[in-house]
Amino acid sequence: MKAVALLLLALALNGTAWAGDQARGKQLLEKNCTGCHDDSVYTRKDRFISSKAALTKQVRRCSANTGVQWFDEDVAAVVDYLNATYYKFK
Ligand code: HEC
Repeated sequence: MKAVALLLLALALNGTAWAGDQARGKQLLEKNCTGCHDDSVYTRKDRFISSKAALTKQVRRCSANTGVQWFDEDVAAVVDYLNATYYKFK
């Protein structure tokens, strides 16, 4: 029984963290990522990102240009937000 309760708790916390990460990703993006391009690059016809792995790589590359040191969690939060909002990779 205890194990089941722990599992449910873990799932609940996990769900919250995911939603929170997207909100944080949005914040990070709005604060750091509008200097060179706006949101339209994520939806343009000839966008070159074709997988979640490629998106992660690009976010990492671009974040290196912002002068802000990003942790893996920051990159992941922005990737989650961009993917949920624009790219929709599985
Ligand atoms: C120093 C300028 C610069 C900054 C700041 C910048 N980017 Fe970029 N980004 C670019 C350039 C240049 C491209 C390529 C655009 C092109 O090929 O037309 C690009 C492309 C992208 C793409 C790919 C778009 C596609 O085609 O699907 C993503 C995703 C992206 N940037 C995310 C970000 C994120 C997230 C941040 C904030 C961490 C950010 N960028 C900040 C210069 C920048």
